[in-house]
Amino acid sequence: MLSNTAQLFHHVSSLIDHVSYFLNAAPLASVALFTLAVIFVWFVSSSTWQYYRLRHFDGPVLAEISNFWLFKSVDSGRSYLDFWEVTQKYGTIARVGLNDLVTDDPAFVKHMCNVKTDYRRSSWYDGMRFNPTSNNCLSTRDETAHTALRSKMAAGYAGRDVDNIEAKIDTNVREFMGLLGRYADRKAPVDLGRKVQYFTLDVISDIAYGAPFGFVETDTDVYEYIKTTEKNLPMVMVVTVFPWLLRLLNNPILKGLLPSAKDKLGFGRIMSIAKDVAAERFKPDVKAERDMLGSFIRHGLTQTESESEILLQIAAGSDTTASAIRSTMLELCANPDILRKLRQEIASANIAGDVISDSEAKVLPYLQAVIKEGFRIFPPIAGLMSKEVPPQGDTWNGVFIPGGTRVGYSIWAITRRRDVWGQDALEFRPERWLNVSPDKLKDMESTLDLIFSYGRWLCLGKSIALIELNKVFVEGTR
Ligand code: HEM
Repeated sequence: MLSNTAQLFHHVSSLIDHVSYFLNAAPLASVALFTLAVIFVWFVSSSTWQYYRLRHFDGPVLAEISNFWLFKSVDSGRSYLDFWEVTQKYGTIARVGLNDLVTDDPAFVKHMCNVKTDYRRSSWYDGMRFNPTSNNCLSTRDETAHTALRSKMAAGYAGRDVDNIEAKIDTNVREFMGLLGRYADRKAPVDLGRKVQYFTLDVISDIAYGAPFGFVETDTDVYEYIKTTEKNLPMVMVVTVFPWLLRLLNNPILKGLLPSAKDKLGFGRIMSIAKDVAAERFKPDVKAERDMLGSFIRHGLTQTESESEILLQIAAGSDTTASAIRSTMLELCANPDILRKLRQEIASANIAGDVISDSEAKVLPYLQAVIKEGFRIFPPIAGLMSKEVPPQGDTWNGVFIPGGTRVGYSIWAITRRRDVWGQDALEFRPERWLNVSPDKLKDMESTLDLIFSYGRWLCLGKSIALIELNKVFVEGTR
């Protein structure tokens, strides 16, 4: 034993001697070549090993041997269609990268995300760190920390100890209708898609910390937030594929490329507003506010956590709801019969105030069918949101998935499954929600709910989004 150790020691020290001799003697170019060769060998061997781990799952050839297919797809902006096509072609669990799978099986998604699951958020979520240096509830992968954060914010998101959420949404609906009315009076064309973003951004800032940004009032992209976010979004999606990019971008030399609270415009400007709002709330003897942020702080959110959560509220709560409004309005404009039926229902409804209340809207069956069908035909968040298989691996429908694999889901594929929605799954047809048995309706509703994720990671802002939608289609079409 001792002689073996001595021999090993001898071999290692002679190897070190050879490498140091080589490094001392070789010109710089040879050292660079040697480094490249080591990286190449490491890359090929780790790719080969990863290929073998998941070789029993089919997918595009490029996705089986590299992450290039996934990178190309998320960078192109059409990944939601690619993931759908891949599940159609290669099966209900398909391969989209060296360590990435995608599924269109709603039962498997519920299995991965239920409250007692052993699955965890994967490195995909590192891309959701809106402030590059700190986590928020959506990017937090440590489950103990995530549960603690969620519990501090659950009451605020549910509107339990917050005053006037609905009244504030009403005020913003009135402002928004006023803006559209001014365009109509002038008979000027209006970019409804853009104005809807103004509306949702004002709503979320108003209910989150007590003041709308002023997008609707000024009818402008305040701080160029929308312009810069749309420009940077593809980069965010690329980071979900290559999470190590975040560490690279965070180094002192490249840090300047990331948004910072010192910026005058864009996401950086919103970061500085979040910082100021949080600082204001933590001043000594300051009055506790009855808005969402006030509720989070009452339940123990710290100043640094508040800065990150304000950013998350804005990012998660604006473009999502705006997408739902835009896509459903597009379908209503393209389907005059459906719009007519909706208007008839609204005209015969008992609406007490100038803006329909949430409870009045909830009992309008055709309106609810339109909202659900809008979500189904265009789910607002269509990224993979991959979860990581527990270390011991998992078996689903008799197929083993090794521990550490990232499994995402294609919500676009799920909301187009013919076994759930019927042969006309590609059509916008609100009636499918009305003429159906109670059991079938339950199945459809619980499958559609996956657009808000599920269980442990269910969207915290779901009920707020639904209040906005319940009002905007009624006030926008009557
Ligand atoms: C139609 C609109 C919306 C849709 C489709 C939607 C969907 C989602 C989805 C899919 C997730 C990811 C969960 C996961 O990690 O698997 C999520 C998370 C989240 N959403 Fe939403 N969302 C919407 C609106 C909102 C609004 C209006 C707010 C804020 C008021 C909001 C706040 C959040 C928060 C805080 C999280 C993180 C939850 C956590 O990490 O536990 N969302 N949402």
